Amino acid sequence: MFMEGLKKHGIRIALDAEEFITQHSITESEIISINKKFISKEDLGPILKKREEEKDLKPEPKKAEVSLPADFKPLAKEYGPEIKVRESLDVTGKSRTEGGVSDFVNYFRNRYERLSALLRTYSGRYPEADLEGISKLVGQKVRVIVMVSEIRETKKGNILLQVEDLTGQFKIVISQRDEIAFTKAKNLVNDEVILVYGKVLPAFIVAEDLEWPDLSVTREKKKPERDLAAVYLSDLHFGSKQFLGGYFNRFTDWMSGRGENQELAGKVKYVFVAGDIVDGIGIYPNQEKDLDIVDVFKQYELFTDFVQELPDYVEVIVCPGNHDAVRRAEPMPALSKEILNCDVLSLGSPSTLCVENSEHLLYHGTSADGWIATLSHLSYDKPEKVMVECLKRRHLSPMFGGNAIVPEKMDYLVIEKEPDIVHFGHVHKNGYTRYRDSLIINSGTFQDTTEFQQKQGHIPTPAKVPIYEFMHDKLRTLDFTR
Ligand SMILES: [Fe+2]
Repeated sequence: MFMEGLKKHGIRIALDAEEFITQHSITESEIISINKKFISKEDLGPILKKREEEKDLKPEPKKAEVSLPADFKPLAKEYGPEIKVRESLDVTGKSRTEGGVSDFVNYFRNRYERLSALLRTYSGRYPEADLEGISKLVGQKVRVIVMVSEIRETKKGNILLQVEDLTGQFKIVISQRDEIAFTKAKNLVNDEVILVYGKVLPAFIVAEDLEWPDLSVTREKKKPERDLAAVYLSDLHFGSKQFLGGYFNRFTDWMSGRGENQELAGKVKYVFVAGDIVDGIGIYPNQEKDLDIVDVFKQYELFTDFVQELPDYVEVIVCPGNHDAVRRAEPMPALSKEILNCDVLSLGSPSTLCVENSEHLLYHGTSADGWIATLSHLSYDKPEKVMVECLKRRHLSPMFGGNAIVPEKMDYLVIEKEPDIVHFGHVHKNGYTRYRDSLIINSGTFQDTTEFQQKQGHIPTPAKVPIYEFMHDKLRTLDFTR
């Protein structure tokens, strides 16, 4: 959308300049201000220089000690943060692809290799076979690990899959009469990796059953040892006319012990923000009419102010969303220090980190649109169900052709670590569930219903903040509209 906005201004970008723009979060208005029709990497240098000069004039924001009420004795102040980021699972600083055919081949190969390794841990009915030699196994029962390339319904109402592995391609038929396999197959999506049990016939395998990589049913977890809590936010949309500033100020006041249940407020050591910090600019056509602030830097200044207003012992952890000032395609790298201009832990979307012994998966949730459009049992009303589908697949966004994907050397959208807490945003609707041993949180929004959402019949749940107490494994929602 960002590049499309530039096209409308008749501006073209050189390939090496595109990468530079992503790396330094250069905005549309900064590029327009160069006043050239073809932008090379060299043209962008002065933008960084100008930023540096402006930074010199503007003192680094120091976190002033927020004065807390005398009767507020926050427990979280007594403890340092316990955060371990799984750097290898975050694309930030590692985006190297040129987007060529071979990059896509390697990207899907990486997905297949990592997910098939998970599927190999299933205790095996039938010996495993490669697709290359499958025609020699006619009449035998086998298991195959395949990527689904195409899903079709046959004239008789059965499901026909075109599948591939690293050695070849074949077809799989799931008959309506095989109820277990057929029910599962109705939920298949393109480009996901599955395990299929079945009998080999000359032209296809007749499936008996299939499995997704999935999470372990139970797993051993480290026990959180400190009585601390985290709040989960997303979709603040600073800069939007619909931003609910009054409710948001109530939340900020509550964090500083100026509200009900001070004891709980004092336990909050971590604030997660799963993207869409600001409303951005040029995200959709005619967005200007929905904006209070049309300068993206000024939108982020409001976020900086918010961080400054939080008690200084609170750690803020953020990842970007589709409205933020990084590339739209996934995986998204972290927002830059220049943009955020405050003391927060800025990570990519998705990212994985261990906080208070709880493994967290943090992702904006952009793929929800694709999931909801593809699987009939999903809706914007129950985002937690979308999140369960991701966990089953151990993949955040398998369907190629929906969300824009950058074919990195590694598929960062694979869910490598089994998460204790999964945090998404994006759909502006609070939703929670527990799936196997994972707690699922969709954190809603601080933006009021937009005209677009009204037309879609989509009802958001603004200003409702989930808070999780680690030691007690307890999740509750605080309602700041009251
Ligand atoms: Fe949003």
